[in-house]
Amino acid sequence: MTRLRSDDGRDRAALAQAVLAPLTRAAMFLVASINPNADCYATVRSFAADLGGLIRAVSARDPEAGLTCTIGFGSEAWDKVFGLPRPAELHPFREIRAETRHALATAGDVLLHVRAARMDMCFELVTHCMERIAEAVSIVDETHGFSYFDARDLIGFVDGTENPRDEVAVEAAIVGDEDPAFIGGSYVIVQKYLHDMSRWNALAIEEQERIIGRKKLSDIELSDEAKPPYAHNVLTSIVEGGCEKKILRLNMSFGQPGSGEFGTYFIGYSRSPRITETMLENMFVGRPKGNYDRLLDFSTAVTGGLFFVPPLTFLDQD
Ligand code: HEM
Repeated sequence: MTRLRSDDGRDRAALAQAVLAPLTRAAMFLVASINPNADCYATVRSFAADLGGLIRAVSARDPEAGLTCTIGFGSEAWDKVFGLPRPAELHPFREIRAETRHALATAGDVLLHVRAARMDMCFELVTHCMERIAEAVSIVDETHGFSYFDARDLIGFVDGTENPRDEVAVEAAIVGDEDPAFIGGSYVIVQKYLHDMSRWNALAIEEQERIIGRKKLSDIELSDEAKPPYAHNVLTSIVEGGCEKKILRLNMSFGQPGSGEFGTYFIGYSRSPRITETMLENMFVGRPKGNYDRLLDFSTAVTGGLFFVPPLTFLDQD
């Protein structure tokens, strides 16, 4: 049964930052390290408290564009920015190595995930954010993502179809009574993947479909008999105690065709990082070991980070 309210009656979704906002045509992902001194941590803390006002100001210029921004914090920075309490499951991104496959961890104390129907709205908001924090942080990665045709990723498949919706999304992505100080928070894992498009395109469409577990053009799921055990949607299906465990994915395409860069920015919000970590383990190591995700023969992770997106009420306590 899904429970949208905490034990004390609060609405979990209403406490959350805009984690549950829909997939948009444009997004920006900014990962930054905070320069290690007390003033810089204080600057970021006060920026986080004011972020809601910045979003409202930019959003008012075109409310239809659905501008949202979530801010997350990495494990190492948490104590320095906020002190106690600390989210129960916040820890550094756990690397995975298996044969040639590597889910690497990269630096990053703060994540900004900006979404809108128009890239100029994302651009404008991030410009204002940087005016506030540029002196206090060093940018580790900035990726500008776009939705490719009908929400496809650059390997040509529709991405996001099996995402949870409505109350199922709240249940999957928003922290509940298990961590009372952080009800309304969310854990988010990001990884930037680069695709070897010429090798991927050299595969027969039927083999690509077996790797993903869905039909490429129609997006229809393959039957259980047609799906190989290594299909992406087999390895990322997690069932615990008879219940399917979902995460909320808002992947975007990015790239620079002129210089041969083609990628997918993976971003997955979850109520517990353990669910996304189990999916990663299945993809990289295999379930069982060796039965890994063949998508990784054509995709290389170049970043990896885990962040906690605190509830709005927590950010407001400056
Ligand atoms: C190279 C990066 C990735 C690409 C291109 C990709 C692409 C896709 C596509 C096309 C689908 C099928 C449509 C859908 O249900 O959304 C899918 C499903 C899914 N992916 Fe990924 N994905 C990537 C990485 C990841 C990672 C790193 C995770 C988790 C750690 C993940 C978790 C999932 C889940 C949970 C599903 C839904 C499975 C189901 O219930 O059917 N994906 N992905």
